Amino acid sequence: MSASVLSTSASFSVSGTPASWPQVPRRIASRLAGISESELDYRAKLVLAPMVRCGTLPMRMLALQHGAGIVYSPETIDRRLVRSNRVENVVANTIDFIDSDDGTLNLRVHASEKSRLVIQIGSSDPENAVKAALKVANDCAGIDLNCGCPKKFSIVSAMGAALLSEPDRLCGILTALVENVPLPISAKIRMLETTEKTIELAKRIEKTGVSALGLHCRLRSERPQDPGHWEIFEPVATALKIPLIANGDIFSLDDVEKLKKIAPSVSSFMMARAPESNFSIFNRNGPISPTAAIIEYAKAAVKYDMHFHNCKYVLMQMWPASQKRNNTKNKPLSSAPPRLNPNETHQNEEKEVELPPITNLSKSKSFRELCTFIPGLTEVLDVCETERAEKSAALGKLDLARKESAAELGPECPYVPKEDIMYQVKRSSAGLVDIDRNTCGDVTVGEEDSNCAAPVDEQKNERKKQKPSD
Ligand SMILES: Cc1cc2nc3c(=O)[nH]c(=O)nc-3n(C[C@H](O)[C@H](O)[C@H](O)COP(=O)(O)O)c2cc1C
Repeated sequence: MSASVLSTSASFSVSGTPASWPQVPRRIASRLAGISESELDYRAKLVLAPMVRCGTLPMRMLALQHGAGIVYSPETIDRRLVRSNRVENVVANTIDFIDSDDGTLNLRVHASEKSRLVIQIGSSDPENAVKAALKVANDCAGIDLNCGCPKKFSIVSAMGAALLSEPDRLCGILTALVENVPLPISAKIRMLETTEKTIELAKRIEKTGVSALGLHCRLRSERPQDPGHWEIFEPVATALKIPLIANGDIFSLDDVEKLKKIAPSVSSFMMARAPESNFSIFNRNGPISPTAAIIEYAKAAVKYDMHFHNCKYVLMQMWPASQKRNNTKNKPLSSAPPRLNPNETHQNEEKEVELPPITNLSKSKSFRELCTFIPGLTEVLDVCETERAEKSAALGKLDLARKESAAELGPECPYVPKEDIMYQVKRSSAGLVDIDRNTCGDVTVGEEDSNCAAPVDEQKNERKKQKPSD
């Protein structure tokens, strides 16, 4: 038997795996496909929630350094991953999934996060979901299906929260993932109108064989500023055998302790807006100051060679002036939650400095400009630029690499270093490569554009191509 077990030529039905596919135990399938096995344990973890735009590589790495046990990637739409090429970026030392259509960076991951990284996909179709998951399966520890995004872009494409009203489709995608992807699979849902309905759906999802369920305690119709419903967690958690990951309105480790008392059967705790403001919220010794977090973030963005505009967007959310704007109705979002032990200073903490008004940040157009008000950034930028120039020069001698890279990357890739000689394309082992370029379909959104804020043109395209499901 060959790696074609995991090829994607067979046709799927909404109810799950195509009958034509042989049933191969997951361990054997993973070996055949050259995918390393993952034993991701979803219990007793603080989890960085999936966040388009914000949950890119620097945020995930920093969250892990500061105590997160699992980090989720931003949602990436299945077809965007399917048509991506996996590229080892030997200059930035990352693994990049580059869109074969336009050369944009759809996802960037780092080998050191692999054992704790869950990649979230947006999908309305079992076949595309499996293809997308297999594309990234060697670079993460688990795959999550987004079943909660209420944005129009997702709904018209029958993805995200639209799946909540189509449980057959939802469970069909999960079944296909469980049967064909040799990694733990999870789903992230929102609660339904009643506790009974939520439990019913959760149990159906559990039956597909998923390893965990994330539950955002809001209805599809509710917005972030509406109070979450923590009371949903305990009855759902007790109805399930798999770990339940609670999500919604958890803004500090104090909140985690409070929620543990209200919902003792919950396994793990997922946060989004709190780490969006300060990724060190997971730190058992208390978070570092907002200023120190901003400085660390900017340095990490340079280190991982992120696109400046992505970095600037995240810094805008972290800047102290943004915190008031982010307040929720029921709970003010604390930009600088008190330390658990006020005498303890975090070892990485920078000396407190005064940050300029946010307008200075919004006007800046490059990392160099940020150096004028982010202490220590100049040194990091200088070192990184020198290292990259040296590596590029060394790689430049490899004519073969240059040709291959130019062919793979396309003309413009906004996230990655400009010189195409910076890449050596390394094809991974059988199975992952075979599924390249099969169904390069519609324009969808990826890490930078996000499903939640898809450019208007893309949304229009998507609507023309997809029929609304509800
Ligand atoms: C900037 C931002 C981006 C988000 N992107 C995603 C996403 O890609 N996938 C997803 O399932 N949820 C996404 N969410 C929702 C969060 O994961 C989470 O469910 C929600 O914010 C509630 O958690 P919180 O109260 O801790 O913020 C996003 C939220 C924010 C604030």
